[in-house]
Amino acid sequence: MSSFDRLHRIRIILGAILIASCSASLLAATPNKTTHVDFGVGRPATPAEIKAWDIDVRPDFKGLPKGSGSVSLGQDVWEGKCASCHGTFAESNEVFTPLVGGTTADDIKTGHTRALATGSAPQRTTIMKVATLSTLWDYINRAMPWTAPKSLTTDEVYGVLAFLLNLAEIVPADFVLSDQNIAEVQKRMPNRNGMTTAHGLWDVKGKPDVNGSNCMHNCRATVAVSSQLPEVARNAHGNIAEQNRSFGAIRGADTSRPAGAVALVAATKTEAPKPVTGSELFGKNSCLSCHAKASKLVGPSWEQIATRYKDSTGAEDKLVAKVKSGGAGVWGNIPMPAHAHVSENDIRQMVKLILSGAR
Ligand code: HEC
Ligand code: HEC
Repeated sequence: MSSFDRLHRIRIILGAILIASCSASLLAATPNKTTHVDFGVGRPATPAEIKAWDIDVRPDFKGLPKGSGSVSLGQDVWEGKCASCHGTFAESNEVFTPLVGGTTADDIKTGHTRALATGSAPQRTTIMKVATLSTLWDYINRAMPWTAPKSLTTDEVYGVLAFLLNLAEIVPADFVLSDQNIAEVQKRMPNRNGMTTAHGLWDVKGKPDVNGSNCMHNCRATVAVSSQLPEVARNAHGNIAEQNRSFGAIRGADTSRPAGAVALVAATKTEAPKPVTGSELFGKNSCLSCHAKASKLVGPSWEQIATRYKDSTGAEDKLVAKVKSGGAGVWGNIPMPAHAHVSENDIRQMVKLILSGAR
């Protein structure tokens, strides 16, 4: 697993916790309109804070700040801050699919990237896919360079985007991109007419994969949603079901099962808790989002831990305390969070299993 994957995973876990706790407090805070629940934390955001956060640029360019940048300014920015990862001509697929390539003068006329339909390009590049220039402006402005997001000035964002558009032969080499002419350039985006909602995310036989209906009556029945995971993705990072949070209604798919439809069941009925076996404790307590038996994920593998403490006395007590209160420094700089909510009994049982090499 690459460190990017790992970062993503941590972000997803933290995001999920955040969403879960936000919706919990919303529910608590809005039983009815007249009750005001004051938790005594936080304060209203200031206008300056909202301004700093409200940076999105819409397809109609609402939200786009005034400014401009030339292709040659963009080339300087690109060579200094982008080329190391994306390649001198935005062609590299080292860290991600290439940004530029695979589009033609004809695509600029039709607004449909032909290579997407014919499959003739070796890889799908960003410029082949993206329909709206605002998306690129916004993405670069908020997320790039990867190592220092939001460090570019507004004019540098215009410039580096002009440079990429020039590489894609959408604008000439002496072009200066600005808030004044960006809407004109949008009309030359190779895949501007390629946006569609007429298909599902996976192969669902030409139909959308979401078919919503409002439930107005008897809505607590168990809902079974089913979805298809391609064989290559199944189990790529271990069994998703075991890595889920230990609370909340949604359970992850059991990706250890053979290919085919995987049922994602949103359990709305609470079942009586079954006794859990020792090894199930790892899944129940979300240890497996960061640890695996034989491979290092965010934390060391169970095997590495067993090996390290094989001959050390007092390891069990030390590790119980470490899992309980968290910490970093033994295996690297990434900290393990505290597990104050897990019972000492469970932790001791898990540490025994890890040290005995049973997992
Ligand atoms: C340290 C490596 C690194 C540097 C430097 C970097 N990028 Fe990226 N870039 C990435 C990675 C990784 C992604 C994919 C991010 C993701 O999907 O979350 C990405 C994605 C992108 C994308 C979106 C691609 C797509 O199809 O979704 C654009 C556009 C982009 N970078 C432009 C730039 C520009 C412009 C700069 C310089 C100002 C830059 N990048 C500097 C690593 C880098
Ligand atoms: C968010 C990620 C994460 C989760 C969740 C997590 N760990 Fe860890 N764990 C780590 C990291 C990172 C380390 C390495 C810490 C260090 O270098 O000191 C670690 C280290 C350990 C160690 C070795 C500690 C040492 O000092 O050598 C044990 C034992 C352990 N974890 C058990 C568990 C158990 C049991 C659970 C579930 C209750 C769990 N971990 C959940 C990230 C995690």
